[in-house]
Amino acid sequence: MMSGAVQLGLLAACIVLFVPMGMAGWHLSRNKMLFFSCALFITLAVGVHLMPYLYSISVFLSPSEVISAPTSLYRDSCVFFLHSVMYKVDRECNSPFDNNGTVCKKSWEWIRSGRVAECEFQKLKKSDASDLLNGSWILVAGDSQARLMVVSLLKLVVGSDGMERIGVDLMKRHTDYSVMVEEIGMKLDFIWAPFVGNLTELMLQLKRNKNLPDVMVLGAGLWDMLHVNNVSEYGSSLHVLRDNVLALLPVSSNLDGGGGEVIESKSTRLLHLFWVGMPTLITSMLNTEEKRLRMNDVVLNSYDNEVTESKLLRQSGGPLLKLDIRLLSDLCGPHCTADGMHYDGVVYDTAIQIMLNALLIESNQKPQ
Ligand SMILES: *[C@@H]1O[C@H](CO)[C@@H](O)[C@H](O)[C@H]1NC(C)=O
Ligand SMILES: *[C@@H]1O[C@H](CO)[C@@H](O)[C@H](O)[C@H]1NC(C)=O
Ligand SMILES: *[C@@H]1O[C@H](CO)[C@@H](O)[C@H](O)[C@H]1NC(C)=O
Ligand SMILES: *[C@@H]1O[C@H](CO)[C@@H](O)[C@H](O)[C@H]1NC(C)=O
Repeated sequence: MMSGAVQLGLLAACIVLFVPMGMAGWHLSRNKMLFFSCALFITLAVGVHLMPYLYSISVFLSPSEVISAPTSLYRDSCVFFLHSVMYKVDRECNSPFDNNGTVCKKSWEWIRSGRVAECEFQKLKKSDASDLLNGSWILVAGDSQARLMVVSLLKLVVGSDGMERIGVDLMKRHTDYSVMVEEIGMKLDFIWAPFVGNLTELMLQLKRNKNLPDVMVLGAGLWDMLHVNNVSEYGSSLHVLRDNVLALLPVSSNLDGGGGEVIESKSTRLLHLFWVGMPTLITSMLNTEEKRLRMNDVVLNSYDNEVTESKLLRQSGGPLLKLDIRLLSDLCGPHCTADGMHYDGVVYDTAIQIMLNALLIESNQKPQ
């Protein structure tokens, strides 16, 4: 009796929520991002209130079914398969500049089989990306890996011609960079933040200004590794960063899976958060003695472990979705780097497409 009424209510809620979402269609503009976040927020709020009933319904319907933990939800989702890519490189290439100075032709694609194929990932072209990002503010902060992400994103949305117009500034090392892509009203900021501590400062600043971007991409580690050279310090700075990222989130549900408390704030817009992982380091190719001494696979593993331990990443129950540059650069291989640390554009192009497909999934525009 009771559960029948609740089911009817749920059905009504679903119609109210999902029909407009379907009608809103394919494109994700700033307003639609806002819309979807509100929808998500309502879903969350309704979910929290109905959870006790929902639980009893699901037990009633199928006693063996256990409600999935967040991690298993992540594993079931297409987001989990986003990094299933492969690279193709010219056969005669052994280094990035093998063909008498001309850069080797490299390409990549998603693996076309099994669950990965079902997810229907697609490389967004300039026009798709423009539609998706129209009206958004994208903030990228971090070290040179993050900067290379900015280069790839810009290349996608303004094309090679546009890059020549604005690209010069970006080549300047160790500086901030800001551009408004007028055609699509996209604001793109790069903040030079080589240490995790610099990222934390930026989070505090965003909190003070009460102005949040739509998409935020963060990443730091190589400078901590080279210049601080203390892995436990890196770990604790990541914990501080995580706390400060969580403090920014409009809906701060308990990510540790404890209380499940939902706090409402003035802004309920959903912030899309990404972490740019560290690349595969090829020690013999690094260009200084200090780097060769301090940067190798063993050290990289210990630094990556700290990232996992800090629970900063979605993969370990945190707020940021990792763009796994280490995996991608490893798949591309040694002929995709000249200095053992910064990789060819194709690696960061892949990461950008992974990010854009994640945005499509998060906004319900793709198979979940
Ligand atoms: C590279 O240059 C040499 C001579 O300069 C030429 O014989 C060779 O065919 C070139 N290789 C490629 C792959 O273009
Ligand atoms: C971006 O959105 C604006 C208004 O919402 C629209 O006029 C413009 O055509 C859009 N541009 C692109 C490239 O989609
Ligand atoms: C980053 O942090 C370091 C150490 O705290 C500081 O010396 C440096 O000025 C900061 N850099 C930027 C760009 O904020
Ligand atoms: C690393 O930093 C911690 C504090 O975070 C300190 O206790 C430890 O002595 C440092 N280790 C080295 C080798 O400097």
